[in-house]
Amino acid sequence: LTLTSCGQEANPAQAGELLRSKAKLPEPFQVPLPIPPVKKPIRSDAKADYYQVVQRKASLEILPGLKTEAMGYDGILPGPTFDVRSGRTAIVEQVNELDVSTVVHLHGGHTPAPSDGWPLDLIMPANGQHGGHQMGGHMEGGDMTTGRRTYTYPNAQRAATLWYHDHTMDYTAPQVYRGLFGLHIIRDEEEAELPLPKGDREIPLIIADRAFDADGSFLYPALKDGPGVEAKYMEGVVADVTLVNGAPWPVHEVDAVRYRFRVLNASNARRYELGFDKGPATFVQIGSDGGLLDKPIEHKTLVVAPAERFDVIVDFSQYQPGDEVTVVNRLDGNANVMRFKIARKAADDTRIPATLSTYAVTPRPAGVVRREWRFRRGDAGGHRGWTINGKAFDPKVMQAQVKLDQYEIWTFVTDVHHPVHVHLAPFQVLTRGGRSKLSEFDHGWKDTVDIRPAEVVEVLVKFTAHKGKYLIHCHNLEHEDMAMMAGFETI
Ligand code: C2O
Ligand code: CU
Repeated sequence: LTLTSCGQEANPAQAGELLRSKAKLPEPFQVPLPIPPVKKPIRSDAKADYYQVVQRKASLEILPGLKTEAMGYDGILPGPTFDVRSGRTAIVEQVNELDVSTVVHLHGGHTPAPSDGWPLDLIMPANGQHGGHQMGGHMEGGDMTTGRRTYTYPNAQRAATLWYHDHTMDYTAPQVYRGLFGLHIIRDEEEAELPLPKGDREIPLIIADRAFDADGSFLYPALKDGPGVEAKYMEGVVADVTLVNGAPWPVHEVDAVRYRFRVLNASNARRYELGFDKGPATFVQIGSDGGLLDKPIEHKTLVVAPAERFDVIVDFSQYQPGDEVTVVNRLDGNANVMRFKIARKAADDTRIPATLSTYAVTPRPAGVVRREWRFRRGDAGGHRGWTINGKAFDPKVMQAQVKLDQYEIWTFVTDVHHPVHVHLAPFQVLTRGGRSKLSEFDHGWKDTVDIRPAEVVEVLVKFTAHKGKYLIHCHNLEHEDMAMMAGFETI
């Protein structure tokens, strides 16, 4: 976010503080867990399914009895869930009825560059007015459209939990905060054959923290808040209300059987270590960002950085009807996240197979191209904020030319915590902190990796099929908006 270029006096960076709501907050575990509706195509032919999404303002009752003005895909928060088959193209027309410019990115998508959501490929508002953002000289290098834009998603990739969200240059964080995010699930044959929980026993859990002003509107640091706002941005915005699928600390009734949860951390900057307040339940991880693991991994708690996905099985048969079990965030003093109420015993013919997928783990190849990406605080190009390899994001600069169809080893080096995300291709973590013993959350194919302060992580990556401009960035969205992003070009 170019605060300095907007005439705001820059403050030295300090630790970001918790945004506290002024609204009257509900007691936890009163609001039922909503399930985002599945998006229906408007038509289908031999080639593709065609969808239309309208980005619009909506007045939503997020806190009971109060109205929150949100920006939503189809006017809901989270947006509708795309539920598609691998290899089946989805053509999505996005209509912008907001009064700001937007960009849509399919996170985890193997997407051709013109549909990937380059931060200056703006959809200007349909109302014909200028986008509302003072983007000044930044407009160069973008492919702008007015009112609408059609994105093509080939979905030519294995089953996985993806998500879509806003990616507007300098404004991603506030626009995602106000509601522009949703799930995109890809399914395939390999996964369909597994005896996993399905139907209403397969549930997305999209976790995001928000704060609310007394009248119910979203609280978010704004330029008008004066000096000090930049410090809040610098560390990323963390807020005091935990929403799951858009509801504050919700409650969900379950049978005493196995459930599959697709956990997405859609928060701007907050990390979670999810755990249960009382045993014996654990999270059996079956998939990560890039789809199924080869074998399940059992976790007592689940550390989820912004933008990461964990596909997990929880077995509630270990509880009795009438029991209640609360999901808490251990990184935040066991703060409440949501609650499950065990309603009744029920039949369960699911199991967790010892082998989930034959998708191979690639051994470390010798003699491949190596690149280093250093994520650091810093001022560059008149831009106070965060840098990659000493540079603030400049849409005219490609920091690397990467050949398709060959493995590369990328090294990520950090100063403080950064969840690092790469567009177009998933990667496999090779080493963390110099050791080939990974963290228990590094397994499988990922597109976002949580890198701790002063840590070095090596990943193996290979880009295929699509030539063009893509991004690597920090997925702390305020860091991203404060320029911790770099373009690279696949050739
Ligand atoms: Cu989830 Cu470049 O983004
Ligand atoms: Cu960061």
